[in-house]
Amino acid sequence: MRLANCKMIELPKILDARGNLTFIEENRHIPFAIKRCYWIYDVPGGEFRGSHAYQTLNEFIVALSGSFEVVLDDGLEKKTFFLNRSYYGLFVPSMIWRSLQNFSTNSLCLILASDQYNAGDYIRDYAEFKRLNHV
Ligand code: TYD
Repeated sequence: MRLANCKMIELPKILDARGNLTFIEENRHIPFAIKRCYWIYDVPGGEFRGSHAYQTLNEFIVALSGSFEVVLDDGLEKKTFFLNRSYYGLFVPSMIWRSLQNFSTNSLCLILASDQYNAGDYIRDYAEFKRLNHV
């Protein structure tokens, strides 16, 4: 997998004086069916999360509140995405090394995932990731 397969996706936004509304439908706004949602919150200043890749899992990451950076790496190049709007998300396919960092106070990171939790799907060793990603 390459960085070119990762992309920021703008979600529908229903503007309303009573408050705005955004939604996501599987296989329509994001290119996979959602089997799991999880969220990361109360991250202490300076901490980072999720330095790993997945063998098969696809994810979509949204900053529901606050901001943070997602660093994506395909083993050849790296790119940092700044997420700070709840109507944008980052599609991260399997076999991309990803880290989340620089969380703002009270940030809330929602992650939609294409499969249930499976510890065996994680690649936690960067050299192993590069080997498996053929770089
Ligand atoms: P992990 O994905 O390793 O977090 P990060 O990469 O952000 O540091 O998950 C941390 C712990 O939470 C780990 O023990 C597994 C558990 N976990 C679940 O049980 N279910 C889940 O859906 C997720 C994402 C994690």
